Amino acid sequence: MGEQSRASFGGKISAILVAAGSAIGLGSIWRFPYMAGEHGGAAFLLVYLLCVFVVGIPVMLAEFAVGRKTRLNAVGAYRSLSKRWKWVGYNGALAAMFISGYYYIVAGWSLEYLVSSLFGPLYTSADSFTAQFDAFQASPRQAVYTVIFILLTHMIIVRGVVKGIEKAAKVMMPALFVILIVMAVRVAFMPDAAEGYRFFLKPDFREAFSAQTIFTAIGQAFFSLSVGMGCMVTYASYFKRDNNLTTTAFSVSLLTLLVAILAGLVIFPAVFSAGLEPSEGASLIFVTLPEIFKGMPFAALWSAVFFILLTLASLTSTISFHEVLTAYFAEEHDLSRKNATRLTSALSVALCALTLAFRFDINLGEWFHIENISFFEIFDYTSANILMPLGGLFTCIFAAWYMKPEFLRGELTNYGQLRGRAFPLLRFTLRYITPLLLIYIFVCNLGLF
Ligand code: PHE
Repeated sequence: MGEQSRASFGGKISAILVAAGSAIGLGSIWRFPYMAGEHGGAAFLLVYLLCVFVVGIPVMLAEFAVGRKTRLNAVGAYRSLSKRWKWVGYNGALAAMFISGYYYIVAGWSLEYLVSSLFGPLYTSADSFTAQFDAFQASPRQAVYTVIFILLTHMIIVRGVVKGIEKAAKVMMPALFVILIVMAVRVAFMPDAAEGYRFFLKPDFREAFSAQTIFTAIGQAFFSLSVGMGCMVTYASYFKRDNNLTTTAFSVSLLTLLVAILAGLVIFPAVFSAGLEPSEGASLIFVTLPEIFKGMPFAALWSAVFFILLTLASLTSTISFHEVLTAYFAEEHDLSRKNATRLTSALSVALCALTLAFRFDINLGEWFHIENISFFEIFDYTSANILMPLGGLFTCIFAAWYMKPEFLRGELTNYGQLRGRAFPLLRFTLRYITPLLLIYIFVCNLGLF
């Protein structure tokens, strides 16, 4: 596609908003607390913080450079710079498929909680929130909400990338911050809140830093920032040539970090106050948050407002990985945008159906045996912990070793328009620190596969 015919996002703020819209979502609000809860709380937070700065931001900048330079979808972008590197784009498209295979399901949970807060039994039933969550998972409503979510995403993508995404992000993000702050203040007054703060903020150095904690935190950094899978390449292909990529990457990452930390400050005091376990797993926020609302006046209303915002935050994320595949099908396989969108949505329905329909055992002899696993865990683990870090590693090598230094310097300084003071540090990080760290972590964790 020629440069003329391609849409682009409005202005500087829009670039930040849409990229932050992609980044901020279930990753920070649902997955972050659940991973932190399972992997040592404060220790996890500390490693995650480090990963955002040492891995997340540099990789995001490299992806921005690849995308804006080429103005193509993820596969096309790498291919147009070097035929041999196009598989980094394919790796991203595969990760986008895996994420589609379960993210819509969790987004559907949020929709169910929105509806159930207002019209359903969430706050009137005598059953515990855990029992209600389990009952919901066993009901066909889960599949219905998943499909509704895919359709919502489909409709926004069909209408074109620009307006829908921008508008949603502009309203949703400030509102999300406000409600998280209100909730964080509210939980501070719940009994035993202090125990939650201790868990989330005071690292226990004796047992904290297992290789598994670091591995999970890196995966979480990739997932929550939407990097390592071509999403930021695709979005940057719609950026304007005068956007400042460095400020954009920093703003997006700091906003995401803030949301994740706020989510932790809301969830953990509430977990301990309600006598629940922080290592509850994927259901953590869905059994904990209602406990907070229950004690507030107008419980159902607060709860509905929160879940509307979570739904919108998820929507701006589903749009972004849907767009990775849609742009790929449209541009690389010559489909019309409409058909590319349909194909991506149909694929998402199929993958989610697979996830919802099957649970099974994996038995590869003595050294590898998992019982009762579903594609949910497989898609989540492989995308966040393997495909995205691999994509990130090769993006570093591609942008900082394979390409000439002028490539990164040009994109980061807008070809001489900006001073680019961060450039030397960024290049050094991308050449040495980020790839060595990623390789080290992969090697250390070979035993975990
Ligand atoms: N970053 C998104 C979130 O935190 C998830 C996502 C991953 C979106 C990869 C796009 C690509 O919810």
